[in-house]
Amino acid sequence: MQRFEAQRVDSTAQIASAGLTIRQKEPKNLKAPFDRLDSYLTPAELFYIRSHFPIPALDRDSYRLGIDGAVRHPFSLSYDELRNMPSETRVATLECAGNSRVFLVPQVQGAQWELGAVSNAEWTGVPLRALLERAGLQEDACEIVLEGADRGTPKEEPVPPDPISYVWSLPRAKAILPDVLIAYQMNGRDLPRDHGFPVRAIVPGYYGMASVKWLTGIWAVREPFHGYWQTSDYAYWASMDGKPVRRALGEMQLKSEIARPRVYETLVPNRVYTVCGAAWSGDTEVTEIAVSTDGGRTWAEAEFMDPVRRHAWRRWKFDWLTPKEPGQYTLLARAKDASGVVQPDEHDPSYGSYVINHPLPIEVFVDHPRG
Ligand code: MTE
Repeated sequence: MQRFEAQRVDSTAQIASAGLTIRQKEPKNLKAPFDRLDSYLTPAELFYIRSHFPIPALDRDSYRLGIDGAVRHPFSLSYDELRNMPSETRVATLECAGNSRVFLVPQVQGAQWELGAVSNAEWTGVPLRALLERAGLQEDACEIVLEGADRGTPKEEPVPPDPISYVWSLPRAKAILPDVLIAYQMNGRDLPRDHGFPVRAIVPGYYGMASVKWLTGIWAVREPFHGYWQTSDYAYWASMDGKPVRRALGEMQLKSEIARPRVYETLVPNRVYTVCGAAWSGDTEVTEIAVSTDGGRTWAEAEFMDPVRRHAWRRWKFDWLTPKEPGQYTLLARAKDASGVVQPDEHDPSYGSYVINHPLPIEVFVDHPRG
């Protein structure tokens, strides 16, 4: 697999921020510095962290991954056995479904993510499909449940009576796609503890909640799994014969974000400033980016910096000749995908405080330097 070199984005901005920003100390929730979009792959130390419970203590030597349920030959394997299986390496963007929540008006509950609950990395591991084949997945298995070793009591109502683990199920059709990985490396190195060491799932195209970290159990079920996380938490209102029904979130929706300029950055008048950002989607390809510098009245096409690679973001840039007139300006970016779909103008309330994929307004000032 081709490796990607860090590539600088031209910009007149001075990038001062470094490292992650704490949203919540324990369990760890840290946002990535999205304004530092200097490389295609997000370095592991700048990759956002979203954890619901404290990190479980897992040891490489005693680690075991069990595969059972609706399979003919249940088995478990050690870390070394997993690493000795044929592996695949893929680039995938992970976005937390609650990313950009801070842009919702009125304000909603939950971690107030801005732009930094999205990152892009190269993952190495064994396709889940290979493990399911070895276990002899039964024909009537409809979902594959992935379980992490972390446990605790969720904060949001309804609170289950006993501590629970972090568990997510994938539809069978998704689980057997070759790009779903049981991963042990991130950007060519062993997974860091924050990102699931020793082993995690990577489910390309799905919101981050499906990529279960600290994975210790995989089991196939014959009935849809209605666990806490996919019913009470990461769920939305779908419609069935006109009746609202709760469904688990799945595929990431088309989205673009502006990395630079940053919110309330001051730019010099009448000078070319390179606006830049990234765009991604679930199972389609991002093919166009339009940028508006006047709050959505007019739009101009931006240029991609990365090729199309399904499930990975594409960075883009746009040279803006800033107005001569000092003032406050609203920047927006809007993506279009290969099937002609564009980002929606507004957040869809059926997603509650998730799936915030309308163009996010970035307010900036244009003014003469002081002093
Ligand atoms: N897996 C476990 N075991 N526990 C968790 O809390 N959080 C999920 C997912 N996998 C989580 C988990 C959520 S909501 C997201 S967005 C991603 O992990 C974040 O992955 P990262 O912390 O590596 O960025």
